[in-house]
Formats: sequence, structure tokens, C-alpha cells
Amino acid sequence: MCGIVGATAQRPVSEILLSGLHSLEYRGYDSAGIALLDDGQLYLSKHQGKVANLEDAINANPSNSHVGIAHTRWATHGVPSADNAHPHVSHNRVAIVHNGIIENHDALRKELQAQGIEFSSQTDSEVIAHLLYLELHKGEDLDQALEHVVERLEGAYAIAAIDIAHPERIAAARHGSPLVLGIGFGEYFVASDPLALRQVTNRFIYLEEGDRVSLTPKHYHVWARDGLTVERPIVELKDKLDQASKGEFDHFMLKEIYEQPRVLAETVSYAGLPTVDETIFGDNASAVFDQVEAIQIVACGTSYHAGMVAKYWFEQHLGMPCYVEVASEFRYRARAKRPNTLLLTISQSGETADSLAALRDAAPGEFLASLVIANVDNSALVRESDLVFLTQAGPEIGVASTKAFTTQLVGLLVLLLAFGRRKGLDAEVQKQLLLALRSLPDNVEAVLAQRARIEAVSERFIQKHHALFLGRGVYYPIALEGSLKLKEISYIHAEAYPAGELKHGPLALVDEDMPVIAVAPNDELLEKLRSNLEEVRSRGGELYVFAPEEAGFESSDRVHVINMPHCDAITSPITYTVALQLLSYYVAIQKGTDVDKPRNLAKSVTVE
Ligand code: AGP
Repeated sequence: MCGIVGATAQRPVSEILLSGLHSLEYRGYDSAGIALLDDGQLYLSKHQGKVANLEDAINANPSNSHVGIAHTRWATHGVPSADNAHPHVSHNRVAIVHNGIIENHDALRKELQAQGIEFSSQTDSEVIAHLLYLELHKGEDLDQALEHVVERLEGAYAIAAIDIAHPERIAAARHGSPLVLGIGFGEYFVASDPLALRQVTNRFIYLEEGDRVSLTPKHYHVWARDGLTVERPIVELKDKLDQASKGEFDHFMLKEIYEQPRVLAETVSYAGLPTVDETIFGDNASAVFDQVEAIQIVACGTSYHAGMVAKYWFEQHLGMPCYVEVASEFRYRARAKRPNTLLLTISQSGETADSLAALRDAAPGEFLASLVIANVDNSALVRESDLVFLTQAGPEIGVASTKAFTTQLVGLLVLLLAFGRRKGLDAEVQKQLLLALRSLPDNVEAVLAQRARIEAVSERFIQKHHALFLGRGVYYPIALEGSLKLKEISYIHAEAYPAGELKHGPLALVDEDMPVIAVAPNDELLEKLRSNLEEVRSRGGELYVFAPEEAGFESSDRVHVINMPHCDAITSPITYTVALQLLSYYVAIQKGTDVDKPRNLAKSVTVE
């Protein structure tokens, strides 16, 4: 999604801005731009494509400017192009960058056009620049002008603005899209993600909904939604910077796949097992958990798949009703109230617009409390939920979620243990689960040791256009996750079905060009799955079976068995996931796609 970086300093800022944009590249974008104030002039550079194009242009024409704003754009309104790239400028005086969507842009555009204003882009954002110009033209101060402009905007925004009449200042505002203020020495910054500023500071203020800020190199000022000055806490980030580099790996995705044994172990140890340390969820967690009778999970994409896995776990082991729904549906439908239900959102970024809206949409009294499983501390979902479980995955840069998903599953197992204590979870199951969590990193290592086999198999997908993933029971959401990963990064159309559904339709698709990937652990549904796979085979389908040796599958012509380690039943959805992640990764490598930044996708989806 779009990224914002702004800096006002006593030193030149263009390098800071470019380095910030580079850090945000992983989020997905199609164009980039920068606006700098230099000697009473506004200098603008906007380019379609990579930040490197913008960088070349700046290097060819270096600037000593001490104030500037920059942006990576992910097209929503208007095609990817230099004209539509931000910053947007009005009357060569004011420049703005915007994340989010201005829903009333059409009406505003017409109103501005009626006043003779000419537009140079197709974006919703450009109206902000012109509205700001008109306010400034009345003689208003930049901060005041922005205050009046945001009053007219409907939708979601994070905005940063500069004006040639205020040569040291950046004015910024947030409503519905993240924005942080970075604190330096004799310099201040704004960005949509602290990662963009980690080269220059580790001290941040996370702006709240409706906040506005004013920055100069010497001071900053924050106003809350009600227009009153407010003090927001300064947060010092302590995570290591090198987590955002690829190290010895070719791609962030591969690095993140390989980090899983470590981050899974760290997430387990964070929970303070063998007895769950419930204070990690929040002070009030134990009192809330005592009353929970049902769980409503809401999430998107991969995080939604984690929720689907949890439904199998919670209902099987706790007999606790668990409902799972994608956030974009949940938020827009009339819902029946269920008593004593915990609203559980799951989100790597903690900023996903639909998941956040779902949380905000919950009516007072509709849920007992809200809990989020997230990977990013201080993200909007973390700040706005009653309770929090922070996975210990560390920054996930690859757009395709890997370690965030598997650590979410560990978080859900920790929750299962916390509820298990209250719901009489069988002591033997508890013991098994604790042992399984302890041996999980080793099991994942064993899957990673299959890398060469999976890479070899992946070559067979180069000419394929479609793939079918099959699983049964708790492995159905794992099949869904495998198919999402494959389509996301290799652009092969992939679908997942519960294997029992095969003959109700998808079997018609099976022929020699359709690889069928089966998740086949040695469990009580294995024989049923085996019959389903025979149905595929007898129709000429080519099978890729992920199964342990004891499941008794043998490789033969058109059957490729990938041996999985023997692992505990309850955590084995996690280990099978890792194998499917590797498959997608290597297929994408064979196809030569941009693994870490697949086309059209963004890392955190902060617009609806
Ligand atoms: C996963 O590979 C995807 N990139 C995507 O489905 C993602 O899981 C989804 O957008 C939800 O994101 P979140 O976990 O940050 O809320």
C-alpha cells in the first residue's frame, strides 16, 4: 500500500526520504515521488515504477533542501503513472502526500473545478492539495489550513503537507490510515510506518485517530481530534534493524521461512509455558477469559486461514463454539448477538483496514471483549483492542505471509491452553500440546531439510496454469493457505477444496495439466483422502502428496511424494504449512516472478 515519509531537519533530507521510501518498498507500490522546499521554490519529482527511478532523477539533480515529503503510491483511483504519483501540488505553492481514500473526492473535485481549478491527475488525493491552497490563499497558517481541509474530507487519510510560505514546516494529519511522528535531535519526521525512519531514529509517537501535527526542526506540536493540544507518549523501539535485511538469503520470503524454527520457539517462550502467563494478554485477561463461552474470529487472507484452523482446534478440544468470518463480510452484515463471546481479530500488520473496521464496528455490548493476535506492537488493532497477544515473528517484509501465519497458530494454541484450564481440557491433551509446542521448531527444521526435494518437484510447475490443493479436516485451511501462497507469488491460478468436495464439482477440472497437491498426514481421515486421491489419479491427474512415511504413499509415474517428518498431530498443520510455503517459493523462483513484491499486492492493506 502507499507509503509516506516526511522530514524537516538542519541537514539535507533527500537521502533520508529516499532511504525511507526504500524501506517501504516491500509494502507494494507502482510509482514514487518527492517534493522538497529549496530556497523558496518547490522542487517536485515523480516517476512510475521503482523508487530507484526517482533516486536516479534526484541524484542527477541533487538538492540541499532541509524540508520534504515523499511517497510510494499503490494505485486505487487512476492508473499507475507519473501524473497520478504523489506528491500532488497546487499552484506551485503547496504539496501533499496522502494514504487512504477520500470518499467524497468526486463532489470536491466538481466544486473545485467550478472555481476554475484545473486538475492534473485522476486521483482522489489531488483535491487535498487544492483545498489546502485555497485555505492558504486566504492567508491562513499551514496548520490551521490543514485543520480546515480535513474537516471537509470523508474517508480515510494520512496526509503530510508542505508550503513554500512555511519553509521549515510539515503539517500532517491522520484519520483511518496509520501515521507516526519520528523524533530526532534537531529534526523531526513523519511516516506511515516506523520502519521508514529506523535509519534516523528509534523514538516514535503513534498518532491517534483525528490527530494533527506540526513539525519544524526545533519543535513538534500535536492536536487531538477535538482541536486541543495533546501529549502523546514517546515509544522507544528496541527491535534490531538487521531484521529488515535479507542477510544471506536471496529473498525476504525465504529468510522468513527459515526464521520459523527460531520465532516459533520465541513465541512459545513468550507465553511463559507450561502455565500460560495470562498477563501477556493484558491486565484484565484472566477475568475476561473466565467469562468467555464462544469466540468470533475476524480476519483477512492468511490470517483468516489461521482463524479457520483455530475453529477446528477450539471446537474439537474445548467444545467451545468458534465462528470465523472474513472481515470485509463481517463488517457489513447485520449480526445476531451471541452472549459472552470474545471478538478475536488476527492480523500480522495490525493495520488491515477491514479487520480494524470490523473491530470498530462491533456495537457496544455485542462482545464480551476484544482480543487481537498481531505481530506489530503499537499498530492500530493492538492499540484499540482490549487484550493483545503479540506473536514474536519480528518484521515480516515478504508480501506473502509465512512466519506471521505459523506464529499466529502458536498464539492460538496458547489461547487454547488458557481456555483449556477453564474448560476442563483433557490433561493428556494438555501434556501432548506442551510437548508438541516444544518439539515444533525441530519438526519445522526437518521440513526445511526437505528443501532440495521440494525445489526439484517445483520444476514440474513451470508450464502449469492451474493447481488444486486438497486437505481434510484441519488440513483444509492449510490447503487454502497453500493455494493462496501459490497464486500470490507464482501467479498460477490455484484453488483449495476439502477433499470430500472433489466429486461435487472440482473433479471436472482434473486432467494431465492439473497438478493436485494433497496435504496427507497420517490421521483418522487418511483413508478417506486416499480414496479421493485415487479418483484424481484414475482421471490422469498428477499428484503431489505431502505425507509422512507411515502414511504408505509411494512415488510412481505421476505421483510425487514429499516425505514429511513424523510430528505431533496438534501442531502438524504448522509443519505442513512450511512445506507448502517452500513449494510456492520455488515455483515462483522457477517462473521468475518478483517473490517478495508480487504484482498488484501490498503488504498491509490499509484501504478497503
Ligand atoms: C498473505 O500472504 C497475504 N499477503 C494477505 O492475505 C494477508 O494475510 C492479509 O492481507 C491480511 O493481512 P494482516 O494479517 O496484516 O491483517
